[in-house]
Amino acid sequence: MLRGFGRAPFGPKSPLGAGAGAALAEEPTVDAAAKDAAREPARSEGSRPEQPPAPAPVSQPPRAPEPSREPDPAQEQFEQLKRHIHTRLVDRLDMNRVGEMDPKTLRNEIRGVVELLCDTENPLLNRSERQRLVNEILDETFGFGPLELLLKDDKIGDIMINGPKKIYVEKAGRIQRSEVVFRDSEHLLQIIDRIVSRVGRRVDETSPMVDARLPDGSRFNAIIPPLALDGPVVTIRMFGSKPLSKDDLIRFKAFTPEMLELMEGAMKARLNIIISGGTGSGKTTLLNTLSSFIQPDHRVITIEDAAELQLQQDHVVRLETRPPNIEGRGAVTATDLVKNALRMRPDRIIIGECRGAETLDMIQAMNTGHEGSMTTVHANTPRDAMSRLETMISMAGLELPIRALRSQFASAVDLIIQASRLQGGPRKVTSISEVIGMEGDTIIMQEIFAFRQIGVDADGRAHGEFLSTGIRPTFMERLEAAGCKLSPDLFRQRVLLKD
Ligand SMILES: Nc1ncnc2c1ncn2[C@@H]1O[C@H](COP(=O)(O)OP(=O)(O)OP(=O)(O)O)[C@@H](O)[C@H]1O
Ligand SMILES: [Mg+2]
Repeated sequence: MLRGFGRAPFGPKSPLGAGAGAALAEEPTVDAAAKDAAREPARSEGSRPEQPPAPAPVSQPPRAPEPSREPDPAQEQFEQLKRHIHTRLVDRLDMNRVGEMDPKTLRNEIRGVVELLCDTENPLLNRSERQRLVNEILDETFGFGPLELLLKDDKIGDIMINGPKKIYVEKAGRIQRSEVVFRDSEHLLQIIDRIVSRVGRRVDETSPMVDARLPDGSRFNAIIPPLALDGPVVTIRMFGSKPLSKDDLIRFKAFTPEMLELMEGAMKARLNIIISGGTGSGKTTLLNTLSSFIQPDHRVITIEDAAELQLQQDHVVRLETRPPNIEGRGAVTATDLVKNALRMRPDRIIIGECRGAETLDMIQAMNTGHEGSMTTVHANTPRDAMSRLETMISMAGLELPIRALRSQFASAVDLIIQASRLQGGPRKVTSISEVIGMEGDTIIMQEIFAFRQIGVDADGRAHGEFLSTGIRPTFMERLEAAGCKLSPDLFRQRVLLKD
């Protein structure tokens, strides 16, 4: 597979000398996660469920680096050596055989070759530099380059890349700048391209925005110039290999056991539920968690723009919308998919997020025998959620009298769960409200549980208390009919938990 490889000299020696190498070990070139990854090469193996892509040739000559925060000559030399070894590696690959080989064997073989190349190109590298170089080249060849370091850090929730040199991550609810950088815009574009082409999408000047998902299910969005003015911009929502469980969320005080009891009952009794919340407030996480209460014999159909739900059931059919092709044809919208899903004998339909015309189809499905359906919507309060849904339908050009529309909502939707990301990072369910019906032209709701923020602590973190408002929901009979016996004390007015 690897042609003509041996200990023959491979062109000029890298300029990286022992001095530079020693300096490298001292320099904080990557963040702590990066160093961990370098120390634990085993973590990088076997963690990706999908097949790695074929190695991508890196044939461009080294480009002038863009201005970074601190120009670092040792880092530059390290990068230069890495590119040099990578190019030599690609020269020696027999691409026909690469495609046929088992990915694990291929990776092991290539690791061996890169280690050998390191020794011949620069025998003065110390052990940790050599290990880091080998890992970075393997990431570059099989994975997503510098991004791999961040993807392996399970403390990171969001990755935000604003051009090649400015990368921010969210850790424990706080946003901080990462030391990881890409070589230049072209390098970043290459990685974006590799990610989106795996899921059959593309990104270029004619279609500069793209949604995709990473092999582990994490959500990926990229927008590139000319729409993004300062280089390609990538946003990744990490989902890790295991979604947060209800016990995790109780432990994080995202809601109280009493609130969970009600949500569990609502799921089992097939209430129609809307999860409302601002961006990154935990809507999708809640949807995943609550889905664990769906009866195992229910056939669930999920519809998403970029599949990110990780439902816990066996009997799940996952559908994904499709953007138009280069000629502007072939788009399949969420509305198309909801219509098709109705012919697939669903017990419940779950739409990842309602954004447009599919809202009406969803509401109609909820009203016509697909109880227990769910969706999420971007809104800041339960009432706001209802008006957002209304706006989506009117913007889609569907001329329905507003009263007719609202009464459809009122009869379709049973419960609205409001998620919020509070100041300083905590994510909580801040309201569970029941939709009880119409009075005149207004939809009537009542709040059953709530979180009231009282203040902010010394670290800038919001704190407050979860309350039971003392109101008993009107759907109690439905819960009882479905065999859900809630504690008699559940709705007594009181403070449930301070946090
Ligand atoms: N209660 C929680 N405590 C801590 N982290 C949480 C909690 N809920 C969600 N998260 C984490 O917060 C991030 C955002 O969650 P999620 O994707 O569910 O939000 P979202 O509201 O669906 O976002 P978007 O509007 O972008 O779709 C994820 O990394 C998730 O793991
Ligand atoms: Mg979401």
